[in-house]
Amino acid sequence: MNDLAQWQTRAAAQTELILQRILPENSVVPQELHEAMRYSALDGGKRLRPLLVLAAAELGASVQAACEAAMAAIECVHVYSLVHDDMPEMDNDSLRRGKPTCHVKYSPATALLVGDALQTLAFDVLSRETELSTARQLRMVQMLAKASGSLGMAGGQAIDLANVGCDMSQAALEQMHSLKTGALIRAACALGALSCPDLDNKALAALDIYAAKLGLAFQVIDDVLDCEADTATLGKTAGKDADANKPTYVKLLGLHEAREYAERLVQEAVDALAMFGDKAVRLRQLAEFVVIRKN
Ligand code: IPE
Ligand code: IPE
Ligand code: MG
Ligand code: MG
Ligand code: MG
Repeated sequence: MNDLAQWQTRAAAQTELILQRILPENSVVPQELHEAMRYSALDGGKRLRPLLVLAAAELGASVQAACEAAMAAIECVHVYSLVHDDMPEMDNDSLRRGKPTCHVKYSPATALLVGDALQTLAFDVLSRETELSTARQLRMVQMLAKASGSLGMAGGQAIDLANVGCDMSQAALEQMHSLKTGALIRAACALGALSCPDLDNKALAALDIYAAKLGLAFQVIDDVLDCEADTATLGKTAGKDADANKPTYVKLLGLHEAREYAERLVQEAVDALAMFGDKAVRLRQLAEFVVIRKN
């Protein structure tokens, strides 16, 4: 295993442990809701957003406990977005992270509630007492709220659904991808940096350029993989975008150009990290991982 793979494995295991701890046990009433929350959130996914939180926090002098809360919070919002994204009213998908989707395994009503409850759990965890100042912590809460809502992920999802079957310009597609996927990736980096009291606004601004480029590249590659990879490798149904006539970068640019565009964005993301020197090693490696990933 190379150095990044080892760091990734350790950070993903850390994420799993934090989620295990904050999610109510299956035996707690209402049992089915808690079981479905744990089913959706535990034991799956690449954990890219918590890894970005940690990698951004490693830019600071030391990683604080607030970083762990942010890792859990961002993954809870992400999993909520996946559970709702898969529902019949949105993408109508039956496979996620190699398992039946939440609404298939349980019911659509339970899947709705899983999303609701994971979203509020995220803010519960993020607002628990930490070593940070209240002002800094409040900034983190606002950051996640804005990135999740109608000006962020949920807004991007609305644009996605409104444009099924439509031809979108590259500018419009970029805005949609930057919102539906980019917003949470930007928030992950910002949360990690905000969890370090010693990182200032100049560092946050440089990091945000990295995150915005990476967030867009991540969704471009998601579009590419939907077309290129098989269902078993993806752990979700391949070929869904073309079947559903979704606006994607593959539809706009073709496979080859879409991949090249993502590679360019990742290079620009890495360039934005110059001021951090060696401290940004994990952020650089994660950016490279985004384009070479298989799922
Ligand atoms: C899938 O995200 C949904 C998008 C925003 C493109 P990921 O590819 O990060 O999904 P997991 O968390 O690894 O399952
Ligand atoms: C979803 O984009 C982005 C989210 C906010 C969940 P997709 O619909 O392309 O994600 P997948 O391919 O189902 O994971
Ligand atoms: Mg979708
Ligand atoms: Mg989908
Ligand atoms: Mg997709």
